[in-house]
Amino acid sequence: MSKRIGILTGGGDAPGLNAVIRAVVLTATRKYGWDVVGILQGFDGLYAGLPTIPLTEARVADILPRGGTILGAANRGSPFALRVENPDGTVSHIDVSHEALSRIAELGLDALIVAGGDGTMAIAHKLVQMGAPIVGVPKTIDNDLNETDVTFGFDTAIWTATEALDKLQTTAESHHRVMVLEVMGRNAGWIALVAGVAGGADAILIPEIPFDIEVVCDRIHRLQVSGRHYSLIVVAEGAAPIGGEQLFYIKGDGLTSGRLGGMGHFVGALLAERIGVEVRVTVLGHVQRGGPPTPRDRWLATRFGSSAVHLIAQERWGYMVALQGTQIVNVPIEQAITMKFVDPHGEMVQMARDLGIVFG
Ligand code: F6P
Repeated sequence: MSKRIGILTGGGDAPGLNAVIRAVVLTATRKYGWDVVGILQGFDGLYAGLPTIPLTEARVADILPRGGTILGAANRGSPFALRVENPDGTVSHIDVSHEALSRIAELGLDALIVAGGDGTMAIAHKLVQMGAPIVGVPKTIDNDLNETDVTFGFDTAIWTATEALDKLQTTAESHHRVMVLEVMGRNAGWIALVAGVAGGADAILIPEIPFDIEVVCDRIHRLQVSGRHYSLIVVAEGAAPIGGEQLFYIKGDGLTSGRLGGMGHFVGALLAERIGVEVRVTVLGHVQRGGPPTPRDRWLATRFGSSAVHLIAQERWGYMVALQGTQIVNVPIEQAITMKFVDPHGEMVQMARDLGIVFG
């Protein structure tokens, strides 16, 4: 039976989103003979009634290696709490979820594929409860979604962060400096941990393990005594000292999450005042989210996109595709909204400690 399906990409972008879109279009058109339309700017485009774009094989022919998303994404806001500025200057939040729901019907969509992280999936879950025919595709460079071993975008991000460490290492060695690299990851330390180990870091500070700066100083001092006059310190943006707090560029307000940032410079300043060595800080930022996805991310994104179309064929509304082991499985979106953190006592952290890496 012929179907018309929509796809939107929500939350922050991640390398591999275009690979998902392409796989959805190719699988829907070639295997099932369905039409696909793209909703622009995530859920914002749905409830605001932005024009949609027809997604044909020709439209997606060249997007596989491109980072970002051809559909655009919105990293803030929700149809359940749309921010409105009142004439008197005050701000209120209104629920426009029914508009989002009616828009799915107005567009004649038999199903909607939602690719996003925890925020987007939480919105999708609520819309499913209201009767929306939605299936999910998990995405985030942070790799912090439960129920899937990995999300696409993560491999590209750790590749970029590792490459940054490789480059910092050579200049650190030349100048006998301590190099601090701040990486993304929100409240999870996956990017810092994996890139830190892959890039030969001496200390890795992650949100899951509050740090003591003296432990990092001690590690640097011991390296110097042993004859190694440079060090690499990776700081996750969500890390915090023991008894201290995370740092934000912009604080969240309960409805929108804040923008973490600043911990790299904070750690750099603490180290500079305690050790007699020059310290330099690099904040990697959105470089981690951009650029061509790695082959591994293209592969995972393609498997996810194609499997999401099969989920629609089975009418499994409220389910999300996920990778468990080597298999693509389907899990209720509701279960995936919970976050996956680095286990401070787990094998991965212990292995890093066995190598001599300190966590502060
Ligand atoms: O969730 C992905 C992510 O890149 C986080 O690692 C980071 O904290 C956040 O998004 C940055 O968001 P924005 O693009 O809004 O600055």
